[in-house]
Amino acid sequence: MADVRPFHWEFHPEPVTREIFRVEGGRPLSGTVPVSGAKNAALKLLAAATLTGERCRLTNVPEIEDVRVMAETLRDLGVVVDHPADNVYEVASGDVEWLFVPLEAAARMRASFMLLGPLLSRFGRVIISNPGGDRIGRRPVDLHVEAMRALGASIEYRNGYYFATAPGRLRGGEIRFPFVSVMGTENAMLAATLAEGHTVIRPAAQEPEVDDLIAFLVKMGAAVQRTNPDTIEIEGRKRLRGAEHRVIPDRIEAGTFVIAAAVTGGRVTLEGAPCDHLTAFIETLGRVGVGLDCGTDTIEVDGSGLHDGRYRACDIATAPYPGLATDLQPPTAVLLTQATGRSTVHETIFEDRLEWLGEVRRMGASVEMPDAHHATIDGPAHLVGAEVEIGDLRAGASLILAALAAEGTTTIHGAHHVHRGYENIERKFLDIGASISRTAEGTAVSTS
Ligand code: EPZ
Repeated sequence: MADVRPFHWEFHPEPVTREIFRVEGGRPLSGTVPVSGAKNAALKLLAAATLTGERCRLTNVPEIEDVRVMAETLRDLGVVVDHPADNVYEVASGDVEWLFVPLEAAARMRASFMLLGPLLSRFGRVIISNPGGDRIGRRPVDLHVEAMRALGASIEYRNGYYFATAPGRLRGGEIRFPFVSVMGTENAMLAATLAEGHTVIRPAAQEPEVDDLIAFLVKMGAAVQRTNPDTIEIEGRKRLRGAEHRVIPDRIEAGTFVIAAAVTGGRVTLEGAPCDHLTAFIETLGRVGVGLDCGTDTIEVDGSGLHDGRYRACDIATAPYPGLATDLQPPTAVLLTQATGRSTVHETIFEDRLEWLGEVRRMGASVEMPDAHHATIDGPAHLVGAEVEIGDLRAGASLILAALAAEGTTTIHGAHHVHRGYENIERKFLDIGASISRTAEGTAVSTS
């Protein structure tokens, strides 16, 4: 059958169906929210499953757009990806036909670049599109590429594609990153599992999702170990086997619902919540004055401090794990609009991750952004419904939070961004008493 895949210069991104959320704010949320599996773990586990020809089974995989895109990208390569039940994916990479990850995949999701390490290491070559940047700033992949070179790969960059080859097996080596990179660490680690000899990665990212990937690799028969908090060592194996693994809970989703309770003055219990992975966030909320009670895998949030003005301003700065996650900076900034006094936000990881605060300002927040990495927020602000636009996933979820805290109705354009990373978000909000609906621009596609 003739291949109808477009060449990259013929590629035009498919038009997305634009959607809007309508949120009626001002209601305290109460009830229980189950936390889904972590997006940023699941995507890497799916990529890791290509390291073996044997079948891998992943459970607790979130039903989100990014996972669907990763599954489609794998199927396009000839990998069998089954979806036998909700939240369960099975991957069998026996016959990989294409060692080519097109712009089509990279344009839809940056995490498609996670296929570089495993495909190169197992098959000795891959052509993969540069994922470029996105709405949170320029996002280079030089660290990933240099890591592969340190393992003996040759990589050329032409016309938007990396052409990577490894004569024979990759060779273990010393990978020294100039600073911490989550996916850089993960890509290097996946490549090293099948390389010949010993690899040391330093400084290695310490995010819980990296440790979840290590746990899966070990089940696959890889010799991977975190030997120091910032060091991962790998002894390459000739082959890996199939394995089964349950994805860890999503700490970013959990943090988002913690803030939802806090900014509406509600009481919410999170079930299956990864308290141990949220230490810096929980400490920040304690400083603000939000009531939190952490059990083994539950978090109870008491937002009553909102009603009597007990939330205090706080200075926050994002940092690699175990610091405050950059993905939790937008929700935390919404909370700071409700705290008394002047708070400051220092976004140290990404360059355009504060821009969205302009939308919260349209809702009545007092926000100044002296530069791309700093904001000051004066509170408490009386937020009111407005018409706002979502630019990226985390900003999108945070605009829902601002809308829940606001008086009146907020119309949030660009709702489809949120479905990239949050499973059933409006169902979960409806179940704890929010008034939220999602419609296509024009027609109703889904409400309660
Ligand atoms: C991961 O992105 C997450 N994505 C991001 O989550 C998260 O915000 C980020 O880690 C930081 O925690 C996934 O796991 C799929 P980095 P990643 O490499 O790995 C620079 C979300 O909303 N850099 O740790 O791409 C980079 O520009 C997303 O779920 C280079 O300069 O982030 C940034 O400034 C958004 N060269 C810094 O390093 C490189 O080759 C850290 O980024 C790689 C990164």
